[in-house]
Amino acid sequence: MKLAIISGGSKGLGHAIAEKLIVDGYQVVEFSRSAPHAYSVKLDFSAPDLMLPALSANLETLAAKQWDEIVVVSNAASLSPIGPTSKKNSMAVLANININFTSAILFMSEVIKHFQSQPCRKVLASISSGAALKAYSGWSLYCSAKAGLESYVRTVAVEQESETSPFVMLNIDPGVMDTDMQSLIRSSHKDDFPAVDYFIHRKESGELRTPDQVAIGVVKILHSDATSGTRIAVFS
Ligand SMILES: NC(=O)c1ccc[n+]([C@@H]2O[C@H](COP(=O)([O-])OP(=O)(O)OC[C@H]3O[C@@H](n4cnc5c(N)ncnc54)[C@H](OP(=O)(O)O)[C@@H]3O)[C@@H](O)[C@H]2O)c1
Repeated sequence: MKLAIISGGSKGLGHAIAEKLIVDGYQVVEFSRSAPHAYSVKLDFSAPDLMLPALSANLETLAAKQWDEIVVVSNAASLSPIGPTSKKNSMAVLANININFTSAILFMSEVIKHFQSQPCRKVLASISSGAALKAYSGWSLYCSAKAGLESYVRTVAVEQESETSPFVMLNIDPGVMDTDMQSLIRSSHKDDFPAVDYFIHRKESGELRTPDQVAIGVVKILHSDATSGTRIAVFS
């Protein structure tokens, strides 16, 4: 029995990964707000203190079984609010950090806690972004969170070296994809996101990959012998 646990598997890349893993014979569980699928569990990452007990309870049930392989994808993310720091609503700032950083770390650490002792092959991938490495005006929260998560994954990879049954920890950069996140980017006002025309051009010139194309690459990496702690671009 193979298990896949995904955050943000309701749509976009997370959903495409979930569907591929189901075809590969995994039992899939995804956590999201809309929770539209048979394998969905409703959780809101913008309120970490409220989502944590529900997350733990779900993981506890799954960890009661012995699995032959465990794949974890930390994928849920949000760009909002886009715009200069001077204009951002503080509560929206808090929600963004909660979704992109605090809850993402809680998700990964809770999964590791619950499954650390299982002796099967275990891979945990955090879906990162080029924004972890490059500063985009208007995306200060998203860029910071992605950079911080990359550091978290690298650091936990070092910790896992001393575990008897370690997780392989990976940062995966998916490249640009035609999802709701890209629609939101293109609908930004230039004052909030000065690079908006570049992203509109990328869509119009057919540069965006489909989530299915990217998911094939992500699943290939999950099944590979990639070194723990590394950052891998799906399309390099
Ligand atoms: N699209 C791109 O070009 C691009 C480029 C580089 C990196 N990425 C990264 O790739 C990953 C997938 O992005 P995507 O383009 O597929 O985005 P998307 O279509 O906007 O999907 C985002 C996912 O995150 C979930 N989510 C958002 N807010 C949440 C919350 N408060 N609580 C729980 N779940 C929440 C959404 O589910 P609900 O709405 O149902 O809650 C959805 O399943 C993200 O980590 C993103 O940063 C995307």
